[in-house]
Amino acid sequence: MRVWAVANQKGGVGKTTTAVALAGLLADQGQKVLVVDLDPHGSMTSYFGQDPDQLTSSVFNLFQHNGQVPEGLAAALLKETSHPNIGLLPSSTSLATLERQSAAQGGYGLVISRALAQLWNDYQFVIIDSPPLLGVSMINALAACEQLIIPVQTEFLALKGLERMVHTLNMVNRSRKQALPYTIVPTLFDRRTQASLNTLRLLRRDYAEHLWQAYIPIDTKLRDASLAGVVPSQLDQNARGVLAYRALLRFLLAQSLNRREQVA
Ligand SMILES: Nc1ncnc2c1ncn2[C@@H]1O[C@H](COP(=O)(O)OP(=O)(O)OP(=O)(O)O)[C@@H](O)[C@H]1O
Ligand SMILES: [Mg+2]
Repeated sequence: MRVWAVANQKGGVGKTTTAVALAGLLADQGQKVLVVDLDPHGSMTSYFGQDPDQLTSSVFNLFQHNGQVPEGLAAALLKETSHPNIGLLPSSTSLATLERQSAAQGGYGLVISRALAQLWNDYQFVIIDSPPLLGVSMINALAACEQLIIPVQTEFLALKGLERMVHTLNMVNRSRKQALPYTIVPTLFDRRTQASLNTLRLLRRDYAEHLWQAYIPIDTKLRDASLAGVVPSQLDQNARGVLAYRALLRFLLAQSLNRREQVA
């Protein structure tokens, strides 16, 4: 099982879109993929046709056992999606209360890692979507993953958000055995705007080592796919956005393979 998380403390940068697109492409290749929604807004949960306001069980249930996860609980929370190879651990609005409760108690940082351990043999990939704020959910996502994907919108304010995210990552790395590898993915790129071009130039100058060299263009088909509740590749295999995500996936898989070979 390989666990990837998608995070950025900035909102609306394409986190959920990236998580769903990558999950869809892996699933198209026949991989069994679990998507985990850790955002109380539940965008990914809604994407796959579940209503985060109505769900009575969700990832929130995982956090109600003093930091432990009772055997079988993770499997009991799974939902099917529009893609036969994708399972969903949905979010619900109640997750918003988590930050308040557990901030006082602590000891909740490994809940998602523990839940995923119960599903180790059922999925080859896990993609975690996280909320745009630093809290228990994001800490759980960062602790559970072996690779972080940071989508960065190619516009002026994006670099501040990225700085904040890298700062968080450095903080989390102090409690990990090895630094968490991360890949910055320029998103919502519009070659006609100066802001997009400038941001890409600055990313290449300041973050070269962690940057995916290409970018995800603006593509309305990605929005259409979310409205239709299907992964982008199911709507149009050859949409510009899908081609870009396919290239990104190839890059991430190659990187992941390299790392495994270095360890072996
Ligand atoms: N490359 C793209 N081209 C066009 N629209 C896009 C693209 N990427 C994302 N979008 C749209 O932009 C909006 C925000 O994207 P998304 O929900 O993926 O961002 P997010 O970072 O998950 O946001 P939040 O912080 O609120 O969770 C959505 O309506 C999505 O459909
Ligand atoms: Mg989102």
